[in-house]
Amino acid sequence: MVTKELDKRIRVLREQIEYHDHRYYVLDDPEITDGEYDLLFDELVEIEKNYPDLLRPDSPTQRVAGQASGKFESVEHARPMLSLEKCTSTTDLLNWSKRNQDLLDIAIDEYVCEPKIDGVAVSLVYRDGTLVQGATRGDGTVGEDITANVRTIRSIPLKLRGKGIPSLVEIRGEVYIPLEEFYEYNNRAIELGEKPMVNPRNGAAGSLRQIDPRVTDSRPLSMYCYSLGNASNDFAPLTHQDALDAFQYWGCRINSRVTTVKGLDACSSYIEEILEQRSSLPYEIDGVVIKVNDLITQRNLGNLSRRPRWAIAYKYPPEEATTSLIGIDFQVGRTGVLTPVARLEPVQVGGVTVSNATLHNIDEIERLELKIGSRIVIRRAGDIIPQVVRVIEHGETAVRLPDVCPACETAVIRLEDEVALRCPNGMQCPAQLKESIRHFASRNAFDITGLGDKLVAQLVDGERIRNPLDLFGLTVEELAELERLGEKSAANIVQSIQESKSTTFGKFIHALGIRGIGESTALTLASRFQTLAALVDAKQETLESLEDVGPILASNICTFFSNEDNRTVAFGLVERGVEWPIEELVHDRPCEGQTWVLTGTLSTMPRQEAKANLVKLGAKVAGSVSKKTSVVVAGAEAGSKLAKAIELEVPILNEEEFLEFLEDPATRS
Ligand code: IVH
Repeated sequence: MVTKELDKRIRVLREQIEYHDHRYYVLDDPEITDGEYDLLFDELVEIEKNYPDLLRPDSPTQRVAGQASGKFESVEHARPMLSLEKCTSTTDLLNWSKRNQDLLDIAIDEYVCEPKIDGVAVSLVYRDGTLVQGATRGDGTVGEDITANVRTIRSIPLKLRGKGIPSLVEIRGEVYIPLEEFYEYNNRAIELGEKPMVNPRNGAAGSLRQIDPRVTDSRPLSMYCYSLGNASNDFAPLTHQDALDAFQYWGCRINSRVTTVKGLDACSSYIEEILEQRSSLPYEIDGVVIKVNDLITQRNLGNLSRRPRWAIAYKYPPEEATTSLIGIDFQVGRTGVLTPVARLEPVQVGGVTVSNATLHNIDEIERLELKIGSRIVIRRAGDIIPQVVRVIEHGETAVRLPDVCPACETAVIRLEDEVALRCPNGMQCPAQLKESIRHFASRNAFDITGLGDKLVAQLVDGERIRNPLDLFGLTVEELAELERLGEKSAANIVQSIQESKSTTFGKFIHALGIRGIGESTALTLASRFQTLAALVDAKQETLESLEDVGPILASNICTFFSNEDNRTVAFGLVERGVEWPIEELVHDRPCEGQTWVLTGTLSTMPRQEAKANLVKLGAKVAGSVSKKTSVVVAGAEAGSKLAKAIELEVPILNEEEFLEFLEDPATRS
């Protein structure tokens, strides 16, 4: 039977989760930790599991729902999704505006200036505030129904919030992949031997067209809303900016660089400003869009066949150029993967001379059908390493893949079901050793300052460093003897190395450089195991069961520690005095396998804290009482759950007993 209390709890949880999703994904300003968020989310999942009747499609737990569709249905756009006229000079811009003013015979003064994000145009339809349809632009008239996929994008609200929500509103915008996430995704894909994305825009388009929404969910998509499509009569903003403000108020994500300005000079300044910022923006843009702000003027200007008169795209110079491929070298990374690097006839791209471009992995050579001597298009966006985009004229000479590692001449291997070629020589390979030391010293690992690439190369090539342990034996004198290093810098480096010994277990694990273990997984492992011995002894099954670990990473961890050299380094660090604070150590997890239920109000601690305490002890905390419940904690005004616990003879603790238990959990039998 569903109680009022349960109904209320569900409502509160959903509201809180939506609120925190908005803070995190839309405002980029979270208020609670990921752990606290997970507690809320898990509680809601648990209740909905036990009471399927209470499940709603717009529940925040239902973002990834439904089956792989097989294909996308067609949807007709209520109003066509148009493209934009393009221009590349202020003269073009002046002409555009003059034409418009002449056409209507009025002065048009107010414009909205927006970055033109390089992603994929998407339409979102909200009925009574609930997201009911997501669609691609398609040919502008008919697009594809990608509702299940857009629902997985956390910056898109499943429900609009606030007042004045119209019965129907179509909000349009750009779905894209932020640059940082793009690199992260590609690095991981390459590391796992999967295919990287060609560029963020391609990645966004491909991710939206997945037939299985779970795949889309695994892609780092985000969205900026930029215009109003169809709407019912109860939404009639006067200006474009008003529409955007309403969207933002209802919880949609609007680019903070969108500005309303007066006059074309201000538009020109905006164009210059954004161009200056281009390389440091966290997303790719190919220009800015200038729009007439007043919506009645927009309507009066109307559309040409495929583009509106009231907006124009100012396109920035392309970040692509054509050149010739002179050769391909192979670089050895930290984990031994050989990455092909294209050597190019030097060429100017966006004001910089480029003579190398990355090729991600050897599959790229096949995919692009690269041959030496080919004419190719390269692309350099922002601070990214230039990429080879496509071949425009094929060369003659086939690319030979190396048989041996270019750094240590060990025969390379290609693991089954992996794309990558690897040098299996580990830290015996100078290239891998250099990369490992750089990683070890990096900011989110041992955070050693002053240990630059050149110095690392000198130390490795001079055979002074054979593994990270050797760093701790470096002396000021020997460092000072090296070229270009004074006594003072040498002393600073040695001091930084000594100071790095007090660290955290998370940074320590990250520093070890286990394949696929990034910062966040390292943290999960750290808080679960606390000591090196516990981590080294962890069974594959235990590791697999941890959040964001899974079978591949679990096996990587086991393989890593089954290697004697790796164990020597790890334990050797501890012997050399590396240490970290142990969080309030929970020796064993006395509540492992138990399910607890909290009900009523606890006067001395918030429910979240009570829950966190139980989770730390290994318990699962559920939202409802069943025969499987191990213990119910009943605070003040406990109602139906308490009654059910009594009925099912589940052990019950009152607040005082619960606090006593928390003080000494191991004593409870
Ligand atoms: S307005 C009729 N605003 O650019 C209005 N478009 O070439 C059409 N785009 O398909 C869209 N950022 O995918 C608009 N701030 C922005 C935009 C933007 C990116 C894309 C959009 C559209 C293409 C037009």
